Amino acid sequence: MRDPNKQTIFSGVQPSGHLTLGNYLGAIKHFGTLQDEYNCIYCVVDMHAITIRQDPAGLRRQTLELLAQYIACGIDPKKSILFVQSHVPAHAQLAWVLNCYTMFGEMSRMTQFKDKSSKHADNINVGLFDYPVLMAADILLYQAHKVPVGIDQQQHIEITRDIAQRFNGIYSDTFVIPEGFYPKVGAKINSLSEPSKKMSKSDENPNGYILLLDKPEDIMRKFKRAVTDSDNRIIRAEGKDGITNLITIYAAATGKSPEEVEAEFAGKGYGAFKPAVGEAVVELLRPVRETTEDLLKNKDYLEQIYQEGAEQANAIARRTLDKVYRKIGFVKR
Ligand code: TYM
Repeated sequence: MRDPNKQTIFSGVQPSGHLTLGNYLGAIKHFGTLQDEYNCIYCVVDMHAITIRQDPAGLRRQTLELLAQYIACGIDPKKSILFVQSHVPAHAQLAWVLNCYTMFGEMSRMTQFKDKSSKHADNINVGLFDYPVLMAADILLYQAHKVPVGIDQQQHIEITRDIAQRFNGIYSDTFVIPEGFYPKVGAKINSLSEPSKKMSKSDENPNGYILLLDKPEDIMRKFKRAVTDSDNRIIRAEGKDGITNLITIYAAATGKSPEEVEAEFAGKGYGAFKPAVGEAVVELLRPVRETTEDLLKNKDYLEQIYQEGAEQANAIARRTLDKVYRKIGFVKR
C-alpha cells in the first residue's frame, strides 16, 4: 500500500463533537481525493479532544462516528491508513521530546490557545497550551509532506515547521518539513448566525452551524434563517459577510467558482439564493449521512479498520521515534 515514490499526506480531526460543514468543506471532503496521488494517513485525534473536558461515553461514541464519517466522506481503508491517535503511543512519546525543543514564548503566541482558554476559563490546562506540540508530533512521525487542513490550522502548521527545522538544524535531517494544504474555496467557512466568526461545533447557537448528520429539513431551515444584509445583491463584498459566506458554501458544495455563482444569481434575490444553497448542501451531505448511519450499524467492521490502521501507523511512527531517540542520545533498549 505504501508507495515509496509518492509523497505522504497526514491529517487529523478531533472527535470532540459532531462534524460540521466547516470541517467537511475545509478538510475532510478533500481527504478521499488525495488517496491515489499520495500515501494518505488519517487520524482520529482523541488525545487532542481531551484538552477540553469530554464525557467518556460521548468520546467513545464520537470516535467511532468520526471513523465512520471518514469512510462515508470517501476515505477508502484499503488505500489509506485510518487510525485512532491514542492507539499509537509514539504520538505522546515524540510530543514529550518535541516539548524540549519548543519555546514557551512561541507557544504563548498561538491564537487558538488564547481563544480556547477564554472560552474555557475554568479549565485552562497544560494540555490545551501544549496542543500544537502534540499536533507537530502527529505530523512529523509520519514524515508527512502535506497536511490538508482549514486555514484556522495555519499557525499550528507553521510552528510544526519551526520545530522540525530547529531539530534538523541541531541533529541533521530527521524530519520532512511539512506544508499546509488549504482548499482554494472553503478553507474558512463562517457561522450562519454570526458570519464574521468561524463555523464551529462549539458554537452555543445551533443555527450557526450545519452538522453533517443534520436532517434535510433542519439544513433548509438554518439556511433560510442565515444572517445576511438588506442589500439583496448576491456578490462578495466588504460588509456582506453573510452573503460572501453563502457564496463560498454554494461554490464549495457544487464545485463552481465564486465568480460563477455570482453570475448564476445576478439579478436574483436572497429569497431564491438561500434555499438554493440549502438544497445544494442537502444533496452534498445526503450520501454522507446515509453511509455513516449504515456503517455505525457495523461496529465489528469499524473495529477491524482501526485495529489494522493502528498496526500500520505504529510501524511507521516507531521508525521515526527510534531515529529521534538515537539522535538525542537515549540508550537503546
Ligand atoms: P478540528 O477537529 O478542529 O477540525 C478538523 C478540520 O476541519 C477544519 N475546519 C474548518 N475548515 C473550514 N472552515 C471551518 N469553519 C472549519 N472548522 C474546522 C480544520 O482546519 C481541520 O482541518 N488541530 C486540528 C486537529 C489535528 C490535526 C493534527 C490536523 C490534530 N493533529 C495533525 C492535521 C494534522 C483540529 O483542531 O482540527
